[in-house]
Amino acid sequence: MNLHPISTQVTKPDRERLLNQRAKVIWFTGLSGSGKSTLAVRLEAQLHKQGYKTYLLDGDNIRSGLNSDLTFDAAGRSENIRRIGEVCKLFVDAGIIVLSAFISPFKSDREKVRRIVGDENYIEVFVNAPLEVCEQRDVKGLYRKARAGQVKEFTGIDSPYEVPENPDLVLQTHQLSVSDSLKLLVQVILPRIQQSSI
Ligand code: ADX
Repeated sequence: MNLHPISTQVTKPDRERLLNQRAKVIWFTGLSGSGKSTLAVRLEAQLHKQGYKTYLLDGDNIRSGLNSDLTFDAAGRSENIRRIGEVCKLFVDAGIIVLSAFISPFKSDREKVRRIVGDENYIEVFVNAPLEVCEQRDVKGLYRKARAGQVKEFTGIDSPYEVPENPDLVLQTHQLSVSDSLKLLVQVILPRIQQSSI
């Protein structure tokens, strides 16, 4: 390919110094209804209040804009996650802490994101509520539709979810309150986003 990427004078460490933080991707993965968005929204609010510069990427939002051309078959999901990985990479280069909430059911796609953004920048959070619990919650009514055959290839019903093998944090959201999950998140995240950290 005849591409010649330029290098900039202002670098990621320059931007991080200016923003007084370390840029990271906090990657929430889990079934629909497991609590990814709820936790990402709450964590972002808390980090923002403490002066961190953040941005939240969420499945339903990105899929109605940037990725509105993509389906929910395996290829559509992979391309969805690849593009989001590339967006995360840009935000991280800009010095921002990205919170990302996508089902991201395939291990190979999550590993691709890790490679795209850099292993040292990627923090994986497995939001782990059993399918029965997510289905019981059915916040969007999609599990009912999937059981009725009105939504095809729904994760957990007729499309697989591959459990993360080595996440940085697992949150059993059926056993923890939102504020307990938040406390655990903050414990893991704060040391890694402070400017004084390595
Ligand atoms: S992913 O699998 O490609 O990572 P993503 O997180 O972007 O999924 O989008 C999931 C959201 O899309 C769900 O929260 C739900 O609201 C909606 N959705 C619509 N159809 C499906 C489907 N077949 N499977 C899963 N989620 C779906």
